[in-house]
Amino acid sequence: MEFMKNEDIEIQLLLEAIYLKYGYDFRNYSKASIKRRIKYRFAKAGLPNITAIQYKILHDKIFFKTLLLDLSINVTEMFRDPFFYVALREKVLPILKTYPFIKIWHAGCSSGEEVYSTAIILKEEGLLDKALIYATDINEIVLKKAKEGIYPIDQIKEYTTNYQKSGGNESFSDYYTAKYDAAIMDKSLKKHIVFSQHNLATDSVFGEMNLVMCRNVLIYFDKELQSRVIGLFHDSLVRKGLLCLGSKESIRFSEYADHFKEFASKEKIYQKIN
Ligand SMILES: C[S@@+](CC[C@H](N)C(=O)[O-])C[C@H]1O[C@@H](n2cnc3c(N)ncnc32)[C@H](O)[C@@H]1O
Repeated sequence: MEFMKNEDIEIQLLLEAIYLKYGYDFRNYSKASIKRRIKYRFAKAGLPNITAIQYKILHDKIFFKTLLLDLSINVTEMFRDPFFYVALREKVLPILKTYPFIKIWHAGCSSGEEVYSTAIILKEEGLLDKALIYATDINEIVLKKAKEGIYPIDQIKEYTTNYQKSGGNESFSDYYTAKYDAAIMDKSLKKHIVFSQHNLATDSVFGEMNLVMCRNVLIYFDKELQSRVIGLFHDSLVRKGLLCLGSKESIRFSEYADHFKEFASKEKIYQKIN
């Protein structure tokens, strides 16, 4: 039998404690990324070791919320990877246009920037009124920000550039109202989005989706959890439904690989075939 290192045992016990106490399941997240995040937090909190973190999360809910934010890595932006949104506009939307009603699931939507990006493109292509977007994340703090749809105005310049690179020809400022140092996303976009908490590791399918977008989330999971989640997306999609992953992600190694075909390989878009 091969014995584990003390540090790895401590991490495993910590993840078990988080699961038992709060129901958040990080046990199948990629070990390297989890280790980095946990180490960052214990150094920052001035704790002597990982076991001390375990004690603290069990007795201090606020500390747990901070750790949750660390573990769920929420980096995002509007029109992230603009080339992906060009494909969404030019290749995916023509297919969505053929449906009388469109259901889209943004899984792991973080603070919502990519959800509003999709809503803007749907609006420009005349599809928003027949669309419903489900936007979900495990983390209720970022989800609350997503629901509010209020972003720092100093990021808007970069988002405007991304929007233009993604094929946007309208005036990006039409989609938000500037107030002091904030940009408030337009109500006409929000009307078509339902935000809710959902854990890809433990919760179940969202039915009859025409499009599932889950970008830059699987990268934090180990192979087993990635496979579970791709299975979840497979069962959530209609036949010929489309699945979009992040640029460093793939379904190639999952047991569901044969149930999809590549639709746009550079942009990591797959189509369900059976
Ligand atoms: C790096 S962000 C990606 C945000 C966005 N999709 C993008 O590409 O810009 C990863 C998101 O996945 C969420 N996440 C992590 N584990 C999750 C889980 N088990 N279920 C649902 N969301 C999860 C995190 O909370 C975080 O908001």
